[in-house]
Amino acid sequence: MQEFGVDIWANNNFIVEDGLIKLNYKSQPSILSIVKEIRRDNSKGPILLKFPHLIKKQIQSLYKNFNKAMKENSYQGSFNAVFPLKVNQFPTAVNAIVTEGKEYNYGLEAGSKAELILAMLKTPLGANITVNGFKDKEMITLGFIAAQSGHNITLTIEGINELQTIIDIAKESSLKVPNIGIRVRLHSSGSGTWAKSGGMDAKFGLTATEIIGAIKLLKTSNLIDKLSMIHFHIGSQMEDIAPIKKALREAGNIYAELRKMGALALENINIGGGLAVEYNQYSQCKTRNYSIEEFSSSVVFLLGEIMDAKNVKHPNIFTESGRFIVASHTVLITPVLELFSQDYNEELLNLKQTNPPLINELIDLNKLLNNSNCIEYLHDALDHIESLFTLFDLGYIDLQDRSNGEILSHLIIKKALYLKSAHPTNELEQLQIKLQEKYLINASIFQSLPDYWGLNQHFPVMPIHHLEIKPQRGASLWDITCDSDGEIGFNPEKPLYLHDINLDKEDYFLAFFNVGAYQETLGMNHNLFTKPSEYTIHIDDSNYTITNKADSDSVIAILDSIGYDKTQILNKLEIDLSKSNFITEKEKIDTLTKLKSFLQQNGYLRTTN
Ligand SMILES: Cc1ncc(COP(=O)(O)O)c(C=O)c1O
Repeated sequence: MQEFGVDIWANNNFIVEDGLIKLNYKSQPSILSIVKEIRRDNSKGPILLKFPHLIKKQIQSLYKNFNKAMKENSYQGSFNAVFPLKVNQFPTAVNAIVTEGKEYNYGLEAGSKAELILAMLKTPLGANITVNGFKDKEMITLGFIAAQSGHNITLTIEGINELQTIIDIAKESSLKVPNIGIRVRLHSSGSGTWAKSGGMDAKFGLTATEIIGAIKLLKTSNLIDKLSMIHFHIGSQMEDIAPIKKALREAGNIYAELRKMGALALENINIGGGLAVEYNQYSQCKTRNYSIEEFSSSVVFLLGEIMDAKNVKHPNIFTESGRFIVASHTVLITPVLELFSQDYNEELLNLKQTNPPLINELIDLNKLLNNSNCIEYLHDALDHIESLFTLFDLGYIDLQDRSNGEILSHLIIKKALYLKSAHPTNELEQLQIKLQEKYLINASIFQSLPDYWGLNQHFPVMPIHHLEIKPQRGASLWDITCDSDGEIGFNPEKPLYLHDINLDKEDYFLAFFNVGAYQETLGMNHNLFTKPSEYTIHIDDSNYTITNKADSDSVIAILDSIGYDKTQILNKLEIDLSKSNFITEKEKIDTLTKLKSFLQQNGYLRTTN
């Protein structure tokens, strides 16, 4: 049985048992049972399943590991975390973080005005809010209002002009001045897809010269006691620990230097995000080369060492881990709508009383093929089908004979692939690639897996059932958008094998894992496919409950949201139908009712026939 790399990416959150993938938590429901229950409600499109217990697990893991490392290293500062809202601003994630993070005083990070308002709304008073990214006077004023309202907020400046604006507002108004942070532009850069967030040419942060200028400005404006944090972020999904350590050394030394320059309110060092998630399901190319244990102990040890060497008090450590906290809590379920070569099915053979001799030979080959003769018979079959194509082109056999020949040769190849699946020859591997099955999935890659489309980011994918059977079909996945980019092609280096399912007889569902970070907010409404319906699943010792159902937008709502008036749409469709000929008044009324009900459904497909 192929386990789809569950032991590599699942972090013990899921297990395979009895042919099903199950939640490895309390009553251990299978994903299939949850999906079936949801679909009983007539939801036929893609589904986002949210598991808040997985957010709780990640928060606990982050704190447990950092606190352990601090204890082991006799570290004097505290550990604090804020969740960067850009990673997932949706209520299920944010509410779970706020609820599960309460005992840790978990905070939120904002990178825009709307996110800042959300942070002010959701962060409990006393927990931290950090604000990064470019800011105008209005956004900085919002920071002052948050501070005035009792929030523990730090505005991280990305340039001297932002500091000047803070100073101006502090002079103009009597609102409480927020804490100030400085984002430092490190010469150390990261690694991996998002590495350009760090390094000398990075978009954000102050250079050494600018930092010295900022300290002078803060002193002359009597705001030096507001400088509480330095911040850096060298990139998301840092796959290698080495650049993180390098960045920590650089940032730690900057911190120590600033303390020595008289920034005595400076007590916090914010190491940003970057803690990676394992997306890989093929052991030969693991994504990360470190664990959370190694990450936390490296951070704590290095900062402690630098401060001890420079005789500086240990700073409080802040992280802004996003991906690590929320990636695992969302699973995308996509029903398969069609297998494109289902036509090569034994049941579709339509043999004649008298068949061309080559067809009779193919029938025998198919019947007699076994483990010992399989390669020889396969070669014969490939030879015969080529000859049959030639005979068809020359007009010696008809379309039915050709169809029978195609079906029989496919059956033979499939059997050979199956028999030799444990030790495929090069030739069989090539055939596998050539004959890959196209699985049409009821989803939009642009909407639900935008990082696959934009960055080729792999997400673990597997069927949620039939896992007791070894899948045989090399698979490409096609989504339902009218766009050739909406495809996850078969990759021989990272091959996906799926089951040969007769969809007329049963449903087949694929699940994409670790899609809880960035995908929902980056998702595009290409072809007007919107966010799938989502369901929050709470699991207890004996069962599970499905709450917070949020339906995917209806067709009429999508059109309305991009500027087409709902009422006008309905009126126009109704008038056009009422003016049409050749159907009775009753049929018109029935058709209109049908049309209106279609408009109230979401845009995903219900079936392909
Ligand atoms: C400033 C900052 N903090 C935190 C994060 C979150 O990073 P991650 O999701 O890798 O933890 C980002 C994302 O790029 C960021 O730009």
